[in-house]
Amino acid sequence: MGNDLMRFSVAMPEDLLVRFDRLVARRGLAKNRSEVVRDLVRDALVEDECATPGVEVMGTLTIVFDHHASDLQEKLHAIQHDYFDNIVSTLHVHIDAHMCLEVVVLRGETGLVQDIANLILGTKGVTNGRLVITTTGQTI
Ligand code: NI
Repeated sequence: MGNDLMRFSVAMPEDLLVRFDRLVARRGLAKNRSEVVRDLVRDALVEDECATPGVEVMGTLTIVFDHHASDLQEKLHAIQHDYFDNIVSTLHVHIDAHMCLEVVVLRGETGLVQDIANLILGTKGVTNGRLVITTTGQTI
């Protein structure tokens, strides 16, 4: 790895760099400035890759719902069986007497993963949710 490390310099306004250093310090990262910049570059590449049709991605969908909502659990269960190839695992947490939180781990072609997530998010009774997509790590 060391041998293919390329160096380049970036012109950056001083105040931006000072703020960036503060951000790195605030996060308590055990990384130096260069390593954090590399992480940001990778983030941008992963985000771009995940937006490219046909690319294989991993996704985590977090949803919140009231388990008393009519047929909701059955509907969510049916969707997950319909896409058993793409749904790796589901974690269910009972928040209180009424509300539940589920984290659904998905994998597959990026468009399909987003469609499945939208199907779940669009199910009546799901009050809140968000999909996070990331790379399988094979290319970055
Ligand atoms: Ni529950």
